[in-house]
Amino acid sequence: MYDGKLVSLRSLDLSDLDAIEEHWNTWELRRSIGVPLPGSRRDWLEFATKADPWKDGELNLAIIEKETGEFLGTIGLRDIALPHRRAEFGVSIHNHKNRSKGYGTDATRVMLWIGFHLLGLQSIYLDTFLDNEEARRAYVKSGFKEVGLLRSTEFREGKFQDLLIMDILRDEFFESYPPGTTVGDS
Ligand SMILES: CC(C)(COP(=O)(O)OP(=O)(O)OC[C@H]1O[C@@H](n2cnc3c(N)ncnc32)[C@H](O)[C@@H]1OP(=O)(O)O)[C@@H](O)C(=O)NCCC(=O)NCCS
Repeated sequence: MYDGKLVSLRSLDLSDLDAIEEHWNTWELRRSIGVPLPGSRRDWLEFATKADPWKDGELNLAIIEKETGEFLGTIGLRDIALPHRRAEFGVSIHNHKNRSKGYGTDATRVMLWIGFHLLGLQSIYLDTFLDNEEARRAYVKSGFKEVGLLRSTEFREGKFQDLLIMDILRDEFFESYPPGTTVGDS
């Protein structure tokens, strides 16, 4: 159920801390997610292992390589807003050597499946820097549409930059993965 073709999503565990921190504080990862300063992931992980999507508004999971069991990164929905059935999406494949191999797209599809099929969301959105071509491509492949720009909104590396907004609606996702189907099986 939580399987894609290449990856599985599973709950995070406190024992994942070392795997997370191995690549979390690299500049090339931090600059792409807009959280540029280094810092421990311990407090976040302790929260993430306990967070209830409805009470705490977050669901964070580990991305695991199906064949080898390697820890690839983290993926999540946050600001889960019940009245609107809306959430914000985020994903990181931590080690740059594991990028552009299809893991991010596959993991994104599984998380969308969880969001739309299990949580009953109506809309999932994200923002990304315009120069993050790898992310934009992975998101388009997963079904997100580019819907707008927040102009000059994020101070990054010495200047204010635009953020691209992308979203996907439940009916759009259901065109590819209607009820009764899963990402791993299709
Ligand atoms: C964004 C991210 C999750 C995508 O995961 P991924 O496993 O690298 O993505 P995929 O391999 O599924 O897809 C990436 C696509 O971008 C393409 N790509 C890579 N570099 C590119 C570039 N410079 N220009 C255009 N396309 C590019 C790849 O070829 C691939 O497309 P293809 O399958 O059609 O060939 C991952 O790269 C990542 O974690 N990056 C660092 C953190 C980050 O940026 N997170 C998102 C913040 S919004």
